[in-house]
Amino acid sequence: MSVSVQTRSLLGHCTAVLFMLLLNTLLVEAHTIQLPRATARSKGRERISLNEGWKFSRFTFNPDSLSYSTLKPWILPSANDFIKGPEHQPPSGTPPGRNVTYVQASFDDSSWEGLNLPHDWAIKGPFNAPGISGGMGRLPTNGVGWYRRKVTVAPEDKGKSIFLDIDGAMSYSAVWVNGRLVGGWPYGYASFRLDLTQHLKVGGDNMLAIRLDNAADNSRWYPGAGIYRNVWLIKTSPAHVTQYGTFITTPDVSDGSATVNLAVEVQNDASSDQAVKVETEIRVLDGATGQPGTDVVAKFSPATIRVPAGQKKSVSSSTRVKNPRLWGPAPAQTPNMYVAMTTLSAKGTILDTYETPFGIRSVSYDGNKGVSINGKPVRIWGTCNHGDHGALGVAFNTRAAERQLSMLQEMGSNSFRTSHNPPTPELLDLADRMGFMVVDEIFDAWNVAKTSHDFSSLFPDWHEPDLRAFIRRDRNHPSIIAWSFGNELGEQSAAAGGATAQSLRVILLSEDPTRPTTAAMNVAGPGTALASALDIISLNYQGEGHGTSTNGSFAAFHAAYPDKVIWSSESASTVSTRGTYVFPVTSANSAIVGPGSGLNESALQVSAYELYHPSWASSPDKVFAAHDRNPYVAGEFVWTGWDYLGEPTPYDSPAGVSGGARSSYFGIIDLAGFRKDRFYLYQARWRPELPVAHILPHWTWPERVGLETPVHVFSSGDEAELFVNGNSAGRVKRGQYEYRFRWNKVVYQPGEVKVVAYKGGKEWAVDVKRTVGEAKGLNMTADRTTIRGDGDDLSFVTVAVVDENGDTVPRASNAITFSVSGPGQIVATDNGDPADMTAFPSLTRKAFSGLSLAVVRADKGASGDITVSASASGLKGARVTLKAR
Ligand SMILES: *[C@@H]1O[C@H](CO)[C@@H](O)[C@H](O)[C@H]1NC(C)=O
Ligand SMILES: *[C@@H]1O[C@H](CO)[C@@H](O)[C@H](O)[C@H]1NC(C)=O
Ligand SMILES: *[C@@H]1O[C@H](CO)[C@@H](O)[C@H](O)[C@H]1NC(C)=O
Ligand SMILES: *[C@@H]1O[C@H](CO)[C@@H](O)[C@H](O)[C@H]1NC(C)=O
Repeated sequence: MSVSVQTRSLLGHCTAVLFMLLLNTLLVEAHTIQLPRATARSKGRERISLNEGWKFSRFTFNPDSLSYSTLKPWILPSANDFIKGPEHQPPSGTPPGRNVTYVQASFDDSSWEGLNLPHDWAIKGPFNAPGISGGMGRLPTNGVGWYRRKVTVAPEDKGKSIFLDIDGAMSYSAVWVNGRLVGGWPYGYASFRLDLTQHLKVGGDNMLAIRLDNAADNSRWYPGAGIYRNVWLIKTSPAHVTQYGTFITTPDVSDGSATVNLAVEVQNDASSDQAVKVETEIRVLDGATGQPGTDVVAKFSPATIRVPAGQKKSVSSSTRVKNPRLWGPAPAQTPNMYVAMTTLSAKGTILDTYETPFGIRSVSYDGNKGVSINGKPVRIWGTCNHGDHGALGVAFNTRAAERQLSMLQEMGSNSFRTSHNPPTPELLDLADRMGFMVVDEIFDAWNVAKTSHDFSSLFPDWHEPDLRAFIRRDRNHPSIIAWSFGNELGEQSAAAGGATAQSLRVILLSEDPTRPTTAAMNVAGPGTALASALDIISLNYQGEGHGTSTNGSFAAFHAAYPDKVIWSSESASTVSTRGTYVFPVTSANSAIVGPGSGLNESALQVSAYELYHPSWASSPDKVFAAHDRNPYVAGEFVWTGWDYLGEPTPYDSPAGVSGGARSSYFGIIDLAGFRKDRFYLYQARWRPELPVAHILPHWTWPERVGLETPVHVFSSGDEAELFVNGNSAGRVKRGQYEYRFRWNKVVYQPGEVKVVAYKGGKEWAVDVKRTVGEAKGLNMTADRTTIRGDGDDLSFVTVAVVDENGDTVPRASNAITFSVSGPGQIVATDNGDPADMTAFPSLTRKAFSGLSLAVVRADKGASGDITVSASASGLKGARVTLKAR
């Protein structure tokens, strides 16, 4: 067996000046992380949140006769910093839209909705929106949305360069300032900047108006709608670091020393040349406070560059950090961060300061050993996730994202794939700090469409600027270990797939020569032009073999590309609804879901025995076996970590056809954040040192007395004994390529099932499931009882329907009504049932499998007690008090 090592080294991260927050490597704790909302601390540069005080209106018809095709010649120049060919020139004459009343300061928008960003206009529902498929979540994402806000520029800002940074808006953004179209960006997952310097009135009010436009069939999942990420106003001196203007690499890393290379790009917007002194020092970024340490760890030699008027110039330098604190994935390594603090000055006057958080680490990629970080092999225990936060929609919320990642980390996950689009920038900050490895993915379609208004129509004009902007935005994050430029492409098996991949790879390497490229292939085989063009072989499902086929493609890919890392970029796609079990249970370890096989069609449920999957997919057990039989496979990204809105396979149905569901069944964790049984199957594999034993199903089956009711146990032990009402049902050892303990012949009688798991012959973990009585009351638990009163921080409050002993009633579906008093709001409720069509803001929510959730937000400026109460007819109510501070 030949071993060939490709070593590529890495770097840090570079969003302009975020507060880096509390580092959190603890697995289970609820925590508080400060949000990057405030104005930046740096001299010479201001970064001001524009999230507050917007007016909004959505139209299901076109209210303004505008369209991307007529706006396009004025939008394309917004991409000029990200194309290598000739720049786009806007047509001469007045740009379109000037006569649309919404762009005019005089328009009376008092009847429009007032709101703060980030905002998702569709998440409040109602469900069954006309024209929206189950695949897209049946929520009203479509239509034209207008946002308006005043921006006041003080007289002192005269002479400054002023930019608008929109981290993400869904989709086809077009921006007017004081009635003039100044640019935009169509891809709804892209972050973009517009230069407003020439368009703003200094010393007065300016009207900012933003038009978004979503087709009813623009996605294969819930895309959300609106300005759903942060928006910033950036003010700088005419001479300043450009957007994403630093690039840090660490080509040579050892315990004793690391080389740090830095490139800084400076723009001079002034009308005369400027000599600019560029100085950068490196400090530790303190994990606890998010502040740079006081000690300077290393400095780059200062350089003075002459930047011609109206131009950009780059300067590169290199330094060494002695005894570097390396960044590495948790929990095996520690995600230490540094920050490069760059100062631009002229004749002793500071012009700009710019902070680039980064990490020092090396990554190597090996066809047999997989991925190693800092020379130590790490298995990829990952998940794929879409960007929504369930009932909160796609509107980015740092605490909601942190909760998602924390639960994945508790399960033992150390990586994720941003399927299938650029994530919110703050998600990558969380990944850096929490120690996740990330595959950062940009496109779901190239030239071949998957839905009639997806990215394919933009691909010819926009793939280059979107790709360059994406890489420059994200390339300093130490968490990112690979770039993925596509997923399950329509052209994956054709020659065109290989040609497009090659051209994207050239663009990508010109922006970041340090990381490998990949794209996810579900059908393209070894020897295809696409597979041959990729640095990493990313296989969706085919590696372990689709469906019940045991003919996986791992071996054939490994034979064809012995030096390339192979991983499962998507695996499993097991479907289930939490706490629901359908009988009889297959005796196979992986079964295609269908009538009589795992479905409860009348309830739109799928059995949580965690064995059932669509025709292309597999159970977790089958994936684990395929990986263990092919140990060169580097790991997997399970489809999916969390349930998400849209794609409700196997209960999808087209728009207008009722009887389907609204959110996915694929998640290991349900949409409300409740763990499905599968959580413990992955935890047992990914945290073998943790004593895990988890019994399924629940043990309250009045209608099954005397009937065979299989008991399965997920455990990190190697042996287990089951007791049914005190009698042993057998002690069994786990065989090779087996990942669960099964007692298929257990006959149900009320009482108790108890498992004792062993490891190496010693007792290791115990679990018990008891028969539960009638519902008597509600029991409430908040994930955090103290939250910040900043209008943003959240507490996730769970209500369980319990019997007189306080045990959760496993099939309870009582309607629960929530209320709140004090300075907070219930933003949304959910229960994790993919078929629950009650709109998310509803204060009444049925329990699903005994549980219901309320998401509570403290008001901005709140301090004091927020009391959340829950009641249900015939049951004793419950309440919890949260503190806002
Ligand atoms: C704006 O002007 C264009 C072109 O002159 C015209 O087609 C459109 O109908 C006008 N829109 C409004 C709202 O007046
Ligand atoms: C499985 O692989 C064998 C050997 O490569 C091949 O002959 C057979 O057709 C494959 N079966 C399926 C169902 O793909
Ligand atoms: C389907 O679900 C409903 C509602 O939970 C339940 O009453 C019914 O017994 C289930 N049917 C099967 C076959 O599991
Ligand atoms: C009931 O609430 C308490 C306090 O929040 C919590 O510790 C306990 O686990 C809850 N019980 C159930 C069955 O949810």
